[in-house]
Amino acid sequence: MWPTSCHIRQAYPVHKGMTNRVLVAGGTGVLGRVVVDHLLSSGANVRVLSRGRRRVRHSDIEHVCGDLRTGAGLDSAVSGVDTIVQCTEHVNHLVAAAKRADSPHLVYTSIVGIDRVPFGFYRRKLADEELIAASGLPWTVLRATQFHDLIAVLLRMLARSPVLTVPAGWSFQPVDVREVGDRLARLALGEPVGRAPDFGGPQIRPMRDLARSYLAMVGKRRPIVPVWLPGRAFRAYRAGNHLTPEHADGTISFEQYLTEQLAAGTAPYSDAIHDYLHLRRAKERS
Ligand SMILES: NC(=O)c1ccc[n+]([C@@H]2O[C@H](COP(=O)([O-])OP(=O)(O)OC[C@H]3O[C@@H](n4cnc5c(N)ncnc54)[C@H](OP(=O)(O)O)[C@@H]3O)[C@@H](O)[C@H]2O)c1
Repeated sequence: MWPTSCHIRQAYPVHKGMTNRVLVAGGTGVLGRVVVDHLLSSGANVRVLSRGRRRVRHSDIEHVCGDLRTGAGLDSAVSGVDTIVQCTEHVNHLVAAAKRADSPHLVYTSIVGIDRVPFGFYRRKLADEELIAASGLPWTVLRATQFHDLIAVLLRMLARSPVLTVPAGWSFQPVDVREVGDRLARLALGEPVGRAPDFGGPQIRPMRDLARSYLAMVGKRRPIVPVWLPGRAFRAYRAGNHLTPEHADGTISFEQYLTEQLAAGTAPYSDAIHDYLHLRRAKERS
């Protein structure tokens, strides 16, 4: 049932011997879905919070509809949970709701280098991290490098034009979202640790190299042209401030990820795109 499934469907399913009740905010997203899977297989009681634009894969878990941006629905969402795993943006209303409730452990997903790359989005995430650290809630923050999905969707868009342009001097350390989700779920089921060690993919790769690999694997031929991007944020990216060579803990390479995606016939973020289009069409019909 969707998108009208935005309500509490049923009480928590009871898993004998387990008391950990976890809310996954953004539990229908690329990362959130994986976190939900890991938590369920660990026996946790899971509730999902989202705006209801995407489907929940498991029909037997609670789905609470709320909006992290406005605060709507958050008190119901956080009620009775021991832990919140935040797999999306906007923390201030969630922090306030958590404090009004039983001060659950808040686990926040962040990005490597947000304090060293002056992008506006990164500054907002850094402010969110600071808010959480000062909130008085028990907290854990995990910073990860870019997901394979993000790099793949970026290259897919760039490869639409006859010439594939890449920012000159950029490298990425892409990581598989399944491994980030596993780490997050473990952190959620443990004690709060504050800033957890960063989590990066297994290899640091020039973007040009990732683009070459992508084109070869999807069977496209495009000239790859590096483009120099001016500005402090782009310079910080060229300096590799978004990388974490000392935490290359992921094991799944970009090529392994792409091979699996291509074999499964799925495009990165295709679930999200499909669900958003479905919602738009449903709205247009009504
Ligand atoms: N992508 C990367 O490379 C990367 C790397 C490191 C860290 N991260 C971090 O990882 C997190 C997850 O990224 P992702 O790519 O998995 O995101 P995503 O696929 O876009 O998923 C976002 C999730 O949040 C929900 N959501 C969005 N806005 C909401 C709102 N206002 N209120 C309630 N729910 C909302 C979405 O569902 P609805 O639309 O139905 O509400 C969806 O469940 C983000 O915090 C991101 O900064 C991402």
